[in-house]
Amino acid sequence: MILLGVLALAAQYVAATTAAASNYSAAVGWYASWHEPDVPLSSVLWSKYTHMTYAFACVLSVVLDHKLKVNSVPTVDPKSISLADSDQELLPQFVAAAHKNVGCKGGAVNRRLGGSQFYSSNLGSASNRTSFVKSVTNLIQKYNLDLVDFDWEYPGVQGLGCNTISTSDTQNFLSMLQELRASPIASNITLTAATAVVPFPTTNTSLVPQFATVLDWIAPMVYDLSWNWTAGSPQIQRALPSSPARRLLARSAVEAWVAAGIPHSKIVLGVPAYGHSFNVNATEAFLASSSFANATQLTPYPPYDTLNHTIGDKWDSTGGTDQCGRFWGPAGTWDFWALVDAGYLLANGSAAPGVPYQWDACSSTPYLYAEKHGVLISYDDPRSFTAKGAFVRANGLAGFSMWEVGGDPKGVLLDAILSAPANASLAITPSAAIPSPSAPTAGSNGALTQRVGRWISSYLCLLLLAVCWSMN
Ligand SMILES: *[C@@H]1O[C@H](CO)[C@@H](O)[C@H](O)[C@H]1NC(C)=O
Ligand SMILES: *[C@@H]1O[C@H](CO)[C@@H](O)[C@H](O)[C@H]1NC(C)=O
Ligand SMILES: *[C@@H]1O[C@H](CO)[C@@H](O)[C@H](O)[C@H]1NC(C)=O
Ligand SMILES: *[C@@H]1O[C@H](CO)[C@@H](O)[C@H](O)[C@H]1NC(C)=O
Ligand SMILES: *[C@@H]1O[C@H](CO)[C@@H](O)[C@H](O)[C@H]1NC(C)=O
Ligand SMILES: *[C@@H]1O[C@H](CO)[C@@H](O)[C@H](O)[C@H]1NC(C)=O
Ligand SMILES: *[C@@H]1O[C@H](CO)[C@@H](O)[C@H](O)[C@H]1NC(C)=O
Ligand SMILES: *[C@@H]1O[C@H](CO)[C@@H](O)[C@H](O)[C@H]1NC(C)=O
Ligand SMILES: *[C@@H]1O[C@H](CO)[C@@H](O)[C@H](O)[C@H]1NC(C)=O
Ligand SMILES: *[C@@H]1O[C@H](CO)[C@@H](O)[C@H](O)[C@H]1NC(C)=O
Repeated sequence: MILLGVLALAAQYVAATTAAASNYSAAVGWYASWHEPDVPLSSVLWSKYTHMTYAFACVLSVVLDHKLKVNSVPTVDPKSISLADSDQELLPQFVAAAHKNVGCKGGAVNRRLGGSQFYSSNLGSASNRTSFVKSVTNLIQKYNLDLVDFDWEYPGVQGLGCNTISTSDTQNFLSMLQELRASPIASNITLTAATAVVPFPTTNTSLVPQFATVLDWIAPMVYDLSWNWTAGSPQIQRALPSSPARRLLARSAVEAWVAAGIPHSKIVLGVPAYGHSFNVNATEAFLASSSFANATQLTPYPPYDTLNHTIGDKWDSTGGTDQCGRFWGPAGTWDFWALVDAGYLLANGSAAPGVPYQWDACSSTPYLYAEKHGVLISYDDPRSFTAKGAFVRANGLAGFSMWEVGGDPKGVLLDAILSAPANASLAITPSAAIPSPSAPTAGSNGALTQRVGRWISSYLCLLLLAVCWSMN
């Protein structure tokens, strides 16, 4: 069904004795159920997380985005949040495994981009909200969940391209959460939301702070964002996969949500255990000044083929048509494990000998040139995860949430962020007020990501240009 987004399950370690998690109140992983054959529950590093979220509760029947598996039929009925057959078997096992591990708790989330088609209408009237709340509390009881994570992409902002949408979405989302929180069944449940890097659009500035009273935290998803680095055009015009701009985006996302009224202590940083590739030919990939045979100096932000992503790792797909009728090709995504398997990275995340690698100081992320595939890959490694952890701790955020658990099966990235020291120089000091983004109009997903890019650029561009282009 549709619905919302995804259902993730949360496994919560009650015992604060879980040493690995002690630096964060929320060390969260999203577990992608469709990767269970490669990531069996028995392989999950439960003890390193405080919460584990099972994705998703509501799945669709068509391919919607490259990360989502779609295997049930969309519906417009708010009474029918349901699970695909496979999830009906796996989810209880997941909850049991979580609970067995030092009292991990289980929760659920509604789906992301592709599953948000009817979110708005599901919450569009008081009776629909009541039906929806009932569906959620039924799930909590049926599956013994401890957490429900809402992943609506996006309230008041077009996501996929054919979502129902309303200017009342933010208010309706809040009203539903208040009703859910008031239910005895959900009163002691951890309620969270995965969000965009900009606050929910609203004309009533008193609405956003109220989310902090009903949600335990929000998790801005600071990934799948990148520059348009077409030569000579350093604008951030396009939010694509991955990012040379992640660190500054993390900073601006936190600043924007805090300015809108969510306290630092209720923000969890969404972090990716995967990267994105860009088709860049071997001539363009290396600096002209080092264009001899042994050259390994990579060109920062080289031109790339914006129309063609070569398929990434085996979890990527050749694409398909979403429920809006839009065709998507491969995403070009590379999970951390796959970069190791392909020989581009060593097991500890360092670039393998001979692999052209560069650290991007602007975003605090690395990139490498995958010569066999003809792609430049922007990804995360232990160094960038350490930087993210240092940022989270320096700013008193609740923690981090990683998409997805299976991307880092050995916990290499996880260990880096868990053991990151706080770094006071990354603390956000009060800065000029951040302009709130205007509510966008309808459009395709591509248009949405471009809009998000423009919002970001409206308050980030100068900073980014100053920092990044001075490197050239
Ligand atoms: C309430 O849900 C029904 C589907 O069950 C939908 O047809 C209707 O448009 C929704 N109402 C609003 C105001 O969105
Ligand atoms: C919430 O309270 C109910 C009733 O006391 C209890 O059964 C359930 O385990 C509690 N859930 C959580 C997550 O604490
Ligand atoms: C804004 O929302 C608050 C709380 O819901 C409400 O009390 C107030 O009247 C609203 N203001 C406007 C101008 O709608
Ligand atoms: C990148 O910027 C160039 C120059 O402004 C523009 O022509 C191109 O369409 C942009 N590409 C994307 C993917 O936004
Ligand atoms: C790489 O791209 C540049 C410009 O886009 C082009 O001039 C060059 O011929 C290409 N090289 C190869 C090996 O395809
Ligand atoms: C790379 O090759 C150039 C030209 O052949 C040579 O001058 C330079 O010393 C080489 N650099 C390294 C690090 O081997
Ligand atoms: C896309 O790029 C790949 C790798 O560079 C290439 O093999 C393929 O032919 C390209 N496809 C199109 C349609 O340009
Ligand atoms: C990763 O492992 C390689 C090979 O053992 C080693 O040379 C390198 O120093 C390690 N990297 C880090 C960051 O520890
Ligand atoms: C907590 O962070 C410190 C660095 O500040 C690190 O040395 C320690 O290992 C971390 N604790 C855990 C359990 O990872
Ligand atoms: C703290 O962060 C700053 C800014 O990124 C960096 O220059 C510095 O090296 C970091 N310090 C440590 C100890 O990592």
